[in-house]
Amino acid sequence: MTISATRLIVVSNRLPYVFQRDADGTWSARPGSGGLVTALLPVLRNRGGVWIGWPGTTEAAEEVELAAERASGAAGYVLKTVSLNGEEVDNFYLGFANRIIWPLFHDLQSLCDFEPTYWRTYREVNGKYAACIAEHGAQADLIWVHDYHLMNVGADLRAMGVQARIGFFLHIPFPPLDLFVKLPWRMALLHALLQYDVIGFQTLRDRRNFVQCLRILVPEARVRGHGQVLVTHYGGREVRIGAFPISIDYNAFVRQASQPEIKQLAAQLHEKLPNRKLVLGVDRLDYTKGIPHRLKAFRSALERYPELRERMSLIQVVVPSRVDIADYHDLKLEIEQLVGQINGEFVRPGGWVPVWYVYGSLSRSDLLAYYRAADIALITPLKDGMNLVAKEYCACSIEEDCVLILSEFAGAAAQLNRGAILVNPYDTDGVGDALWRAWSMSVEERESRMRRLRRSVRTFDVFWWVDAFLNAAISHDLSAFPAPDESMAPEVAADFLPI
Ligand code: G6P
Repeated sequence: MTISATRLIVVSNRLPYVFQRDADGTWSARPGSGGLVTALLPVLRNRGGVWIGWPGTTEAAEEVELAAERASGAAGYVLKTVSLNGEEVDNFYLGFANRIIWPLFHDLQSLCDFEPTYWRTYREVNGKYAACIAEHGAQADLIWVHDYHLMNVGADLRAMGVQARIGFFLHIPFPPLDLFVKLPWRMALLHALLQYDVIGFQTLRDRRNFVQCLRILVPEARVRGHGQVLVTHYGGREVRIGAFPISIDYNAFVRQASQPEIKQLAAQLHEKLPNRKLVLGVDRLDYTKGIPHRLKAFRSALERYPELRERMSLIQVVVPSRVDIADYHDLKLEIEQLVGQINGEFVRPGGWVPVWYVYGSLSRSDLLAYYRAADIALITPLKDGMNLVAKEYCACSIEEDCVLILSEFAGAAAQLNRGAILVNPYDTDGVGDALWRAWSMSVEERESRMRRLRRSVRTFDVFWWVDAFLNAAISHDLSAFPAPDESMAPEVAADFLPI
């Protein structure tokens, strides 16, 4: 096999394919719908590449591996599976990743279960990923590891003697020092992260938190520089630390949302829910998304602004996720109870229903139709790495007269703060006021805000993100990196500003 100098090996917890057993008992793989794969596909196809990940099932490892091999031809890159058994899924994925790192890094320490078995299995499973990379990779490859499930993989690879360049991107927030120090394995994780050649964060704030942790906990790793990419030297190697806000394939969303059938679906939605503004929330079922807080804010708006009654409906879409974790199951019950209460309190017999609740996965065209139909998007996570729904909504607002209400604790707020109405998701009445403001905003203001938002999402799309990260990983000349520009330097508060 000829390996070009920059063949890319992408590594993520899940493969971007959905594996299923068909009626005849054989396994097949079909492409999933993730944004990451759209962004990386051109790079993987041009340079040749491998994607390593878990197929999402604990069944029939060998047959699933063969299905991945068969899918590789059409994919345009090679798919390699890391199989996990039930215990590994419990302790590594549901345990360490989603009952320790996920809540802690989203500032929800009270939801953490610092069970030592989780950490042991996390290290073992990260070792499995590393072994798979070492088997299929080569010295000249660029290895790009994604997200909080796999923070230790770089350290495992170095321990195996792998010298290739390795990058890591964290898709979720990095917590402030005071929270990070609660982690019993904090030192091991920081040392592991310093084994990468480049570490990417979503926002300057996340990067600043990480650098602050290094300053206090690993003072010998002195961080230098300013601008988009900082540098430290650790263990005789240079480590680059950057902020690269992830985005979407803007043009693809615009193209698809402009299709006549999507326009028609959106119009049908307005016919079913006439004479009112439609407010949209779309989230994975997750306690970080602030769905109960949002419902209460919606209720507050209806209580305090009676003009909104019968003139506004909330469509709340909840996509099932991690349902094997009790906190997620409890959240579903809480949401459904609140929806019932609000509808019971305000419903008009034979007419207006305030909250339309949809629990399930949406088809692409339904999602696009919701985006196009919604007059207001209400995106109020308590904490979020980026939140791509906000960017997708802007791209799909073809008429440019819709309003984005966005939590100041979503990574996207750093980039979109000038066009969106920013809110504190914990401020029930404040979010209610924002709904009123969006509902009564003049068309001129809506248009100028949305135009600004769309310009930013169009300029800093997902292909910009890939280029920015890969440049930081391979470029020799760091002065080529611009100082953080308006898309990243938030104006929200001094606390959000770059270090
Ligand atoms: C977040 C994480 C991703 C993850 C996704 C879905 O966006 O950053 O890494 O893939 O949630 O979660 P799941 O647990 O279903 O993979």
